[in-house]
Amino acid sequence: MIKLKADYVVTMNEKNEILLNAEVLFSDKIIDVGYNLPGESIYLGKNSVIMPALINTHTHLEFSKNKTSLNYGDFITWLDSVIDSREELFIQCKGECYKSAIEEMKKSGVCAFGEISSSGEDLKYLKHSPLKVVYFNEIIGTNPAIADAVYQDFLARFKESKTLQSDTFKPAISIHSPYSVHPLLMDKVIYIAKKENVPIQAHFMESLAERKWLDKGEGEFKIFFEKHFKNAKPLIKPMEFLEKFENTNTTFIHCVYANDKELQKISEINASIAHCPISNRLLNVGKLDLEKVKNHSIPYSVATDGMSSNYSLNLFKEIRAALLMHTDLHPKYLAKDLLKSVTINAANQLKLNNGSIEKGKDADLITFKLPGKVKEKENIPMQIILHTNEVEELYINGKKV
Ligand code: BEZ
Ligand code: FE2
Repeated sequence: MIKLKADYVVTMNEKNEILLNAEVLFSDKIIDVGYNLPGESIYLGKNSVIMPALINTHTHLEFSKNKTSLNYGDFITWLDSVIDSREELFIQCKGECYKSAIEEMKKSGVCAFGEISSSGEDLKYLKHSPLKVVYFNEIIGTNPAIADAVYQDFLARFKESKTLQSDTFKPAISIHSPYSVHPLLMDKVIYIAKKENVPIQAHFMESLAERKWLDKGEGEFKIFFEKHFKNAKPLIKPMEFLEKFENTNTTFIHCVYANDKELQKISEINASIAHCPISNRLLNVGKLDLEKVKNHSIPYSVATDGMSSNYSLNLFKEIRAALLMHTDLHPKYLAKDLLKSVTINAANQLKLNNGSIEKGKDADLITFKLPGKVKEKENIPMQIILHTNEVEELYINGKKV
């Protein structure tokens, strides 16, 4: 049993309570939080913070070797460069590459991440991850001529990941996007996700090009499909795509160009959103309307996406970018929501028993110090986001990692 005491205990509980000069008692689970708890406490020092460890819901670690080889600034130009460099980047990313990607997340206080795996090559490196992994086996492919082979490959990967299922490794399913997967394949893998009760992630409405393509079969994607796939028609309407996810546990990634009706549908089917602000900025697709997302009562997480569209996997940097990007929102209240987005909301999306400091939750905690005293309690979330890059300690299931 360990009892830590800090100046600020950020619980992320339902009431969003921040306790001053409070204690957290835990073994592998949180036993209690508050004051005058039994036992000897370790005081973490002046301006110390204890909060739930962060959760990065959406990454593509297969791309971790990328630093400068992809073209940023325009979505379709970027996608073309991904298709050109993908194989090479995947081959280059081996043990050390995964290790340093995980290390960067770990330093920023991440205890768990959602990994989109398109090849399955990452499995041998991630099965020994010190962080919790939700492993989304991705299906991608629109060509009906190879649909069966694509499906068999998916099944083999999913099956292998299932053999590794544990408290810290959970298999899951990803449908790349409405424009890149054949609808028959969508149905097949959604059927499996329901049967196996595993979470789903799908990219949705990331770019204006996707909006134009799916609505009208026009725009830059038309040229892209003619070039790469000799296929000039979208295969599904956005609303039809969303309806397929009824009665599943799905997170839609990006949603920058989702319209009101689609957000309404996402809300109705109790789905959620993952927001990747740095990726959106680098691919120059615009900004998710967080106010609208909130008005539709859709819970959102913030995630880094992969090194294919970011310069870092540090989740504190990601939420700081969000804080500075969403200039239409009051920073004090946005900061509170952003801390929720990388803790309790992220835990709910990945179906993990962490993300808040409450009795019975996994003891996944981080500790760090602020550079000074925060006079107004309401300002604590913003100050945490402004001043934190790396944490001092990360506990996973009550153990320092
Ligand atoms: C495909 O494999 O069919 C595909 C991949 C990426 C974008 C669009 C389609
Ligand atoms: Fe992504």
